[in-house]
Amino acid sequence: MEQIDLLIYGASQVCVVPGVDGPQRGAQLGELGLIVDGAVAVHDGRILQTGYTDDMLRTYQATTAINAAERAVIPGFVDPHTHLPWYGDRAHEFEQRLAGATYMEIMAAGGGIMNTVRQVRQATLDDLVQDNLPRLRRMLQHGTTSAEAKTGYGLETAVELKQLEAMMHLGAAQPVEITPTFLPAHAVPPEYAGHTDAYVDLVVNEMLPAGAAWMAQQGVRLFCDVFCEAGVFDVSQTRRILETAAALGYGLKVHADEFEGLGGTKLAVELGAVSADHLVKTPDADIAALGQGNTIAVGLPGTPFGLGHHEYTPARKILAAGGALALATDLNPGTCWCESMQMVMALACRYLGLTQAQALAAATINAAYAIGRGQEIGSLEPGKQADLLILETADYRQLGYQFGANLVQTVIKKGRVVVGGQ
Ligand code: NIG
Ligand code: FE
Repeated sequence: MEQIDLLIYGASQVCVVPGVDGPQRGAQLGELGLIVDGAVAVHDGRILQTGYTDDMLRTYQATTAINAAERAVIPGFVDPHTHLPWYGDRAHEFEQRLAGATYMEIMAAGGGIMNTVRQVRQATLDDLVQDNLPRLRRMLQHGTTSAEAKTGYGLETAVELKQLEAMMHLGAAQPVEITPTFLPAHAVPPEYAGHTDAYVDLVVNEMLPAGAAWMAQQGVRLFCDVFCEAGVFDVSQTRRILETAAALGYGLKVHADEFEGLGGTKLAVELGAVSADHLVKTPDADIAALGQGNTIAVGLPGTPFGLGHHEYTPARKILAAGGALALATDLNPGTCWCESMQMVMALACRYLGLTQAQALAAATINAAYAIGRGQEIGSLEPGKQADLLILETADYRQLGYQFGANLVQTVIKKGRVVVGGQ
């Protein structure tokens, strides 16, 4: 018998969610590689093998053995789009929206993103870390084992770097792994009101080089993201920022088509961005482009839901075009304060027209590819990092079907139990 660190056995289902060669595209989405009465062997923090419980109990002697007791085992969720870390809240703006004000009206009047920017500028590094730790703890409890995080609440160089610094502290202080994204082009700060091009000059000439120096110093690769939206950054300003970022070694992401379809998705595909996110008002030509390119469409159904809107990402059209679709929360204090990928799956089943299996693959393997980590996380294939969940239920199809309660019983990160236990 081979001696290993950890064996999880007796699972009603093991959902492998394969995708080692790339994301699950188009009609492929929803392939689970499901093993009934399954087990997962883990050694050195990595997946060694998945298989049937009978075979695996005969093959392996484990230091720690966990009986999943007829519950389902799935990969840890990857949340590929969040706006962590921020400071404070905007509950009163939600109240204004309930009384009829729109998100973009509040933003145009100096609230919205700028409201959070003012709070983040005043917060110390320690304030930022302490305010965001409980969010990450709740995300982990709900099964998120890796997450992307964005700057964009500084909008001046030192504060954008303070947000990056906070991400590093947060990543070191708790189990959820953080993939950082630089988003100085999240809004035009009041100092540059009416002078968007001058702010773009600052982003290109000062902020992106500062982020690049940070990358070199930390040995961490950053993505660069832009809020490409009517009244914020147009397509040519977005292009200028992203082309500069690419030349400095950043990976690329775009906020596109959240309120208006400007062509940001097509631009993302053209520039080889890893993802284009939001995609609510996406024109048909941009959907066709997703089918031809390698950019992953990230649906964020918590955002229209959070805004009380009725239009969602045209996921079925994206899949019909052969595109790759991932899901994320968009966790932020303005449009979508949702920490749970389970809630996002429930919304995606209803409003994006996904099956539970499609939503699961979009929230795991495809989400991993959407942050450039598809070779390491997002599935239970041999060699991948051992990030996995034991659910409360026997059937993965309870995910998406049930909502509003947490169906995750045990969270294992890099082969260690970090939430729950037997
Ligand atoms: O993805 N729309 C731009 N950014 C966020 C909202 C951020 C905020 O309102 O604080 C979004 O929806
Ligand atoms: Fe966002």
